[in-house]
Parts: sequence; structure tokens; C-alpha cells
Amino acid sequence: MNKKTYICALLTKRKQSYERERAPSVLAKVAITGNMYKVKIISKVRIYDYEELSEADRELIDKAKEATQTSYAPFSKFCVGAAARLSDGRIVTGSNQENAAFPSSLCAERTALFYANARYPEKSVEELAIAAYAHGAFLKAPIPPCGACRQVILGVEERYGHPVRILLFGEEGTYVVDSVKALLPLQFTGETMNE
Ligand code: THU
Repeated sequence: MNKKTYICALLTKRKQSYERERAPSVLAKVAITGNMYKVKIISKVRIYDYEELSEADRELIDKAKEATQTSYAPFSKFCVGAAARLSDGRIVTGSNQENAAFPSSLCAERTALFYANARYPEKSVEELAIAAYAHGAFLKAPIPPCGACRQVILGVEERYGHPVRILLFGEEGTYVVDSVKALLPLQFTGETMNE
């Protein structure tokens, strides 16, 4: 198989697997110009005002906002809170915990998810809300999770076999995606190693 055919086969395979999952938050489209492949990645993100969200969504966001108060961020002064809703309806929260050796710190999302998975391993994570507080206010723009947290959320989706709905709170709008795949195109998963 030449390089061009191989790339095309890979993309076709991925496209089929998105269709199989029936949660196509990200679609890849291929256009061919001469010897060039152009890949267009489309993410579906819905944007809501806080008041437009359902009561359940507002509850999860409020828990994430509350969790920012438990953040330990003496170095960055950037307080992040995360709230995960599990399959039994339970809400588990976490916040960023910093250390003088910076890489030894942990983000809010991973604190919440690892705690949820360690404490309630049989319960899947359905939804995750994230909020951030800095310079005396919650962020105006939706808080984007860091790359490492996106990868961990992907691992949680893989572990429980279904997508995690994510709410990124911002005072001027909340972004909602149906899966972390909308925030992390071209994912590396356990399956990648078997391809
Ligand atoms: N932080 C999070 O908790 N979550 C993210 O997704 C982005 C960053 C934390 C890590 C660090 O304590 C502070 O925010 C500044 O980077």
C-alpha cells in the first residue's frame, strides 16, 4: 500500500469507527489536491448562556465553581474546579493541587476523575463541568482543559465505553461538547496500538 492509499485507509477506518460510535463530535473530511491530502476537522461545540442551561447542568457547573474554593494554587493563583456526574447521579468534585516542584502538581479535572474512578470504579463518568477563578473573578471565556486532562478524559471514555459530556464554564458563555473527541481530534487510544 503506498503512502497516499495508507493515509486514506486510516481516515476511512476512523470515519467508520466514528459512525459506529454514533457520537460523531469530530469528523475528518479529506480533499485531494494533486499529491496533497487536506484534512478538515470539524468540532461541534454548543454555546449557552448560564440561564439557558438545564437545572442539572447549572447544578454541575455550580459544583465546579464551588470546588475552585478548595484549589491549592499558591504558585499560579489560578484556581480550577471540576465536577463529575457519575452514572448513579453522584457528583464528585476536584480542584487543582500545586506543588513547589511544578510538574508534581495535578489539575482539577484529573483530581476529580482519578478520585471518582478510584472511589467508585464501577460507576461510569457521564458528565464533567470545569470552572476557573483568577484575579478575583471567574473566567469570562470558557476554561479550556489542558492537553493532559483531555487525554485522561479520553481514557475515561474508553474505560467506560461511552462519551463524557463536557461543560466548560465561562461568565460570558458555557461551551458544551458531547465527547472529549470534540476537543481532541486524532486521538491516541488503546485501540491505536492494535491498528
Ligand atoms: N489547571 C487545571 O487545573 N486544569 C486545566 O485544565 C488547566 C490548568 C491548573 C494547573 C495549575 O495548577 C494552574 O491551573 C495553572 O496552570
